[in-house]
Amino acid sequence: MTHEHQHAAPHDHAAPDPSLSPAQHWEQRYAGDERIWSGRVNATLAEVVGEFEPGASIDLGCGEGGDVLWLAEQGWQARGLDISETAIGRARAEAAARGIESATFTATDLGAWQPEPDTADLVTASFFQSEVALERMEILRRAASAIRPGGHLVTISHAAPPSWADHHPAHMIDVRAEAEQLAQPAVDWAVEVAEERRRPAVGPDGAPGEHLDAVLVLRRR
Ligand SMILES: C[S@@+](CC[C@H](N)C(=O)[O-])C[C@H]1O[C@@H](n2cnc3c(N)ncnc32)[C@H](O)[C@@H]1O
Repeated sequence: MTHEHQHAAPHDHAAPDPSLSPAQHWEQRYAGDERIWSGRVNATLAEVVGEFEPGASIDLGCGEGGDVLWLAEQGWQARGLDISETAIGRARAEAAARGIESATFTATDLGAWQPEPDTADLVTASFFQSEVALERMEILRRAASAIRPGGHLVTISHAAPPSWADHHPAHMIDVRAEAEQLAQPAVDWAVEVAEERRRPAVGPDGAPGEHLDAVLVLRRR
């Protein structure tokens, strides 16, 4: 297991253009010919989900599909959703190039998404954070309603800026607060993991540093 961050390119820390909608903002982030993430699965997600029996999964804010393609390779019927048409196009192209048929991708604004209840065994969201408007908690709550009894919600998020930066443009996640809000009613949800984990990384100048990830695993009873 490698502990590499999925992000291949450094974040663009220019202030977001307030005249752009979230969809336009993310299209601009994905603009150009090159993928902006590494394409590899997020290592922490692989660690957590590697223990589960495959079934139907949904990845929120899947970007270019690294996690979804990995899930499909592990035997999941894996669905990826993202607001960016460009990112979804790259994910589909990669699935086709690798001959992965059990991964499907849809471009959609999750702010307006209503999942079918009890249709998923796993909902994942890796670094589903934004420097522009994102109704993260509402989206995670609705997504949780898609999870069947025995299924899991797994989120991996930035809990703090990386060690080499004093600022991160996106909203940072307090994993315990999020666990309290999402594991409701408690009779329906067990909190299996709600903790911060340090992950070694390399900073933009090549010097070693680390990320602080917020890891949340809920199981529907
Ligand atoms: C920081 S990226 C993470 C991408 C990927 N999960 C990863 O780990 O590399 C956040 C993703 O959320 C997506 N996103 C932001 N707002 C969204 C929304 N309202 N609906 C769907 N996707 C959204 C962005 O397009 C972007 O791909």
